[in-house]
Amino acid sequence: MKLLKYKTANETASALIERLLDLMSMDEKKKFHIAFSGGSTPALMFDMWANEYKDDTDWSRLYVYWVDERCVPPEDSDSNYGLMKKLLLDQVPISENQIFRMRGEDDPAQEAKRYTAITLEQMSEVNGFPKFDVVLLGAGDDGHTSSIFPGQEELLTSQEPFVACHNPYNGQERIAMTGHTIINADLVVFLITGENKADVVADIYSSGDTGPAAYIAHHASLVEIFIDDLAGNKL
Ligand code: 6PG
Repeated sequence: MKLLKYKTANETASALIERLLDLMSMDEKKKFHIAFSGGSTPALMFDMWANEYKDDTDWSRLYVYWVDERCVPPEDSDSNYGLMKKLLLDQVPISENQIFRMRGEDDPAQEAKRYTAITLEQMSEVNGFPKFDVVLLGAGDDGHTSSIFPGQEELLTSQEPFVACHNPYNGQERIAMTGHTIINADLVVFLITGENKADVVADIYSSGDTGPAAYIAHHASLVEIFIDDLAGNKL
């Protein structure tokens, strides 16, 4: 696990984008399959990518997926796809054929199965789990990641690559990438910023059994945790 700490959230987002672009540049012919988390943290990264790194990115090789989605229509303000579409995907020359949204408006269990099939079609697999180049995660201040919340640890070892699940705090139905799929990725990156994440960052860094995010950080083979000073102030 590699911890990369930067002064501000801006610098952290910029460093992460440059890391991803650097990875893409290592093989100019390779399709790059990356799954993004939602929530509020990645918004800054999406906006910065569209405004400052648009011309540095080979959009013809970037294939975009989601780690999880709220079961709402794409135009809903809660939609992870909707957030990324507005801030990044509508601002850059990426083909629709390279964007694989989770259909939050459809039956969750059926969509989880459909999404599993799509990802297995698009990329190589290991033991029946799709192998993403990068899975980009956030972490909730309760230690959740993807839509795997404390108390739902069985999703960390599910045999299903993607499942229907729910946010236990408000009952909102979700579709989520499960632990084996996340850990299967060539690289797992966390993007965690802000003072309210200082405790969860300290947890993630110090132990592997204090919640789903910590579990992933301690079980994936290559993990890079991008944080700002505020999120790192309890390390
Ligand atoms: C989601 C995310 C989730 C997120 C964390 C952090 O759909 O909510 O995928 O795992 O990464 O909840 O969210 P914030 O960035 O809003 O703190």
